[in-house]
Amino acid sequence: MKTLIFIKRYIKYLLVAKNKHSAQSPFLYEFITKVLNGNSDDENCKIIENLRKELCQLNQIIEITDFGAGSHVNNAKKRKVKDVAKNSSKNSKFGKLLYRIVQFYKPQNILELGTSLGISTLYLAKAEEASKVHTFEGCLETIKIAKQNFNNLDAKNITVTSGDFQNTLQKKLKEITTIDLAFIDGNHQEQPTIRYFKECLKYANNDTIFIFDDIHWSKGMQNAWEHIKSDKKTTLTVDLFYLGIVFIKSELSKEHYTIRF
Ligand SMILES: C[S@@+](CC[C@H](N)C(=O)[O-])C[C@H]1O[C@@H](n2cnc3c(N)ncnc32)[C@H](O)[C@@H]1O
Repeated sequence: MKTLIFIKRYIKYLLVAKNKHSAQSPFLYEFITKVLNGNSDDENCKIIENLRKELCQLNQIIEITDFGAGSHVNNAKKRKVKDVAKNSSKNSKFGKLLYRIVQFYKPQNILELGTSLGISTLYLAKAEEASKVHTFEGCLETIKIAKQNFNNLDAKNITVTSGDFQNTLQKKLKEITTIDLAFIDGNHQEQPTIRYFKECLKYANNDTIFIFDDIHWSKGMQNAWEHIKSDKKTTLTVDLFYLGIVFIKSELSKEHYTIRF
């Protein structure tokens, strides 16, 4: 039933989604043409995708600690690494989009809620090695593998904070002091998602970009997305169905776009 509702939402997205010609502002036009429709098949992306292939074959079993909303696909406590890699990690298309966003806007301090095995973290980190990626994860066994991946790919600009976001986010934000990009990809529930947004907003600047994963995953996530769009700080939003991107630049007018990607 959940799957059917999700497919309906996706069809609706396809029907309303627009292309670059609908962009009213030069900022959005640039975002669509240079970032969304850009190309990023470089060596870093190939190495990350090779790592994904390896993880997708790993039969090692890990004990999952889930502080979040769980999965539509697999909620078992013990899972094979290959299943986590297949079901939880952002796919190559969206990983590369994260990579291009970082390459283009060069955020210095990047925050990621939801490391899992570290695939998206590596896309964020490898795009700009001068950036710092602060990633958060609650499952200790998953963190162990993510850290091995960071070492193997020689990603030195990543720090991992372990524990429930509820206990770690506020404290770490105080240390980081300013966030230039926040990728919220853990605990896909309405109230927590809104809370993470509000908490990160306190440390945002005019150029901060927020990226929310799975904004149409459930009714609750759709509500959270609407709440975020209507926040007085939010100006331009871009709905790509699997990701929602939020700009808070005060010089932009408040506009919400659904773009085909
Ligand atoms: C969808 S996965 C992240 C995938 C990763 N960003 C990627 O694309 O490679 C979400 C992760 O968030 C973690 N998580 C969910 N809720 C959490 C919470 N409240 N505190 C800490 N970690 C949480 C889960 O353990 C899971 O590993």
